[in-house]
Amino acid sequence: MTLAGGVRRGSSQDDPAVTSYPAGDPGRELHTGTIAVYGGRILAVGRLEEVKRVVESSGLDGSAFATVDAGGGVVTPGLLDPHTHLLFAGARVSELRLRQRGAGYLEILEAGGGILSTVATTREATIESLAQHGRRWLDEMLGHGVTTSEVKSGYGLDTETELRLLEVTARLATEGPTELVPTFLGAHAVPREFRDQVGGTAAYVRTVIREQLPAVAAQGVAKFCDVFCERGVFTPEESRAILEAGRRLGLEPRLHADELEASGGAELAAELRAASADHLGAVTDRGINALARAADAGEAVVATLLPATTLFLMSDRYAPARTLIDAGVPVALGTDFNPGTSPAPSLPLVMSLGCLKLKMTPAETLAAVTINAARALRLEETHGSLEPGKQADLVIWNVASHEEIPYWLGARLVRTVIKQGQVVRDGRGL
Ligand code: NIG
Ligand code: FE
Repeated sequence: MTLAGGVRRGSSQDDPAVTSYPAGDPGRELHTGTIAVYGGRILAVGRLEEVKRVVESSGLDGSAFATVDAGGGVVTPGLLDPHTHLLFAGARVSELRLRQRGAGYLEILEAGGGILSTVATTREATIESLAQHGRRWLDEMLGHGVTTSEVKSGYGLDTETELRLLEVTARLATEGPTELVPTFLGAHAVPREFRDQVGGTAAYVRTVIREQLPAVAAQGVAKFCDVFCERGVFTPEESRAILEAGRRLGLEPRLHADELEASGGAELAAELRAASADHLGAVTDRGINALARAADAGEAVVATLLPATTLFLMSDRYAPARTLIDAGVPVALGTDFNPGTSPAPSLPLVMSLGCLKLKMTPAETLAAVTINAARALRLEETHGSLEPGKQADLVIWNVASHEEIPYWLGARLVRTVIKQGQVVRDGRGL
């Protein structure tokens, strides 16, 4: 599955660009689907004899190449998870039981729990323990085929801890093998020390704009700026002010939009031409139209849907993926990995939810975690498909068809993971 041909929207989201040569083919050996990799990049993709020709015309000795046999398996681009809150300390197991007894997610936050309880434990955590936690979960995600992951800060909510989270992200990125895309999310909630003041939210927004953002930009530790735009958290006006300030400092906007209730988040993301509008469980027709117009103008704001969150919140309000796809909006899928609403590290499981709850086809979910997720991270020129010149990130799956990836619910299907041309996970054979 090469996913060649650019960002998917509308009916093209269902096209995984299959390069396969049926078993009955005469001279089958020569026709075997082959990918040549050199210097961490893809040199050629296609039939063996064609690929050999490209290798030789590049002046390289094809017989000197190491080979990995994917025989019988499916090869896809390495998966990209475009929305995670990877770094935090502690878990929030007790909230699961509170919510089972009927407590609302925003109600728990309002009472000082939720995100704020993770902020309290994260502020106390050492760099080493945060890094250890990050390694553990990145390793798990790699085992599910994820070779690139977005990582948000947002459990510090003060300059020092927000910077610490971004520094740990930079350290884990250096260690590899998973490539990380850092997002500053200082506006994830209003911290306790500001909530107790009159006008506390406005004062915290000023702190994010005047203190946190400049410090993050000066350190060069974030690519994106995100805001949790939701009733009782940050309004669209506050979100706009933060995202515009971020953009002036070189951080591109993305947004938690219309997750639980409609608040105009999708419209704001479209207006700002953000990289992505995330969640969209409660997006309105106006919001969908605004995203569709951005896509039609060639400035697509990716709709990044996070169905594991909806499932874990025991809600039935899944994002309207079909309507978004039909409207021509490119759709991506992410885990939203976090301790409150999605303790879910498996992107293939999210693909299953994409099929079962969002009614996407298996091929649509594959585009959603490869080329469209790459676009949501503004990496579509180098990541997300198997095409000459792109980074050699690929996964060999222990399945006979890509449709099996979301079909085997919760299974470990990854055989081999290759990151920038290196085998970084070598699994069992079929
Ligand atoms: O995407 N909505 C805001 N942030 C996360 C939840 C974070 C938490 O509850 O700790 C989300 O769902
Ligand atoms: Fe989130």
